[in-house]
Amino acid sequence: MITVVGSINMDLVVESEKNPTQGKTLLGKSFSTFPGGKGSNQAVAAARLGSCVNFVGNIGKDIFGKELQENLTKEGISIEHINIVKDQSTGVANIILSENDNRIIVVPGANFSLFPSDIEKVKEFLAKSAIVIVQLEILPETVEKVLELCQQQNVPVLLNPAPASNCTKEMIDMASFITPNETECEELFGGYSHGILKKYPNKLIVTLGEAGAAYYNGSEIVHVNGYQTTVVDTTGAGDTFNGALGFAISEGYELKEAIQFANAAASLSVEKLGAQQGMPSFDDVKKRLRH
Ligand code: RIB
Repeated sequence: MITVVGSINMDLVVESEKNPTQGKTLLGKSFSTFPGGKGSNQAVAAARLGSCVNFVGNIGKDIFGKELQENLTKEGISIEHINIVKDQSTGVANIILSENDNRIIVVPGANFSLFPSDIEKVKEFLAKSAIVIVQLEILPETVEKVLELCQQQNVPVLLNPAPASNCTKEMIDMASFITPNETECEELFGGYSHGILKKYPNKLIVTLGEAGAAYYNGSEIVHVNGYQTTVVDTTGAGDTFNGALGFAISEGYELKEAIQFANAAASLSVEKLGAQQGMPSFDDVKKRLRH
């Protein structure tokens, strides 16, 4: 079993030719709502690949919360540990897709009412997990509690430090794997370099978009190639990488093989609009790996 502790958002997605400059109004191309949130995206990515996934998080008592809970159930994810917070709205992400990239503003809402005391309540579930996946769209003290309890119980934790501004040195030290992209790596360590990778052997995995990912295996820097594909929407590509990496590690893959698998999964995820729409099945990933 994989346990994912994290955010659940409704993504409010606007497609536009260009980004508006300050004070300007533009007419966009389309508007859609999609299930999102880094936590729930990573849970869905792992579940699509075949993991048994337990989700810990919060929603508000509103229509978005209801839809998002139904979505996780439809994906076969256990929602036993999702709390409904009465006086908070469900998290939302305002996403502008334009010029082949995305810009996101997240309003955490109920995600910021998941407290360390809620994590204490699921301590036994954490202990039963092959791996726990956590990101930083929830309170930092809650993430620290997850890491502390997992460390005490010898459960590996994959920390996706996004957004990186909420990450602390203690979190990095306690995590078993940490997966920043280049921008997050810059924010956390002052830059992406082989020197930084060497400080965290078999632990720091820096994702490089289409170029793949890199890590240090204890004797050399390993660069794991990515895949070129037709990009429709990059939202959720990092989440697919993390969910797939968690899946592969929990299945006993060697780290390099696990990263190869996660790169292939992430490349498939960008081919459809919406964070979760393009997340692949196990067979889809195997097919891409053969190419
Ligand atoms: O990583 C992509 C996710 O970030 C989106 O689904 C959005 O909800 C934001 O949390």
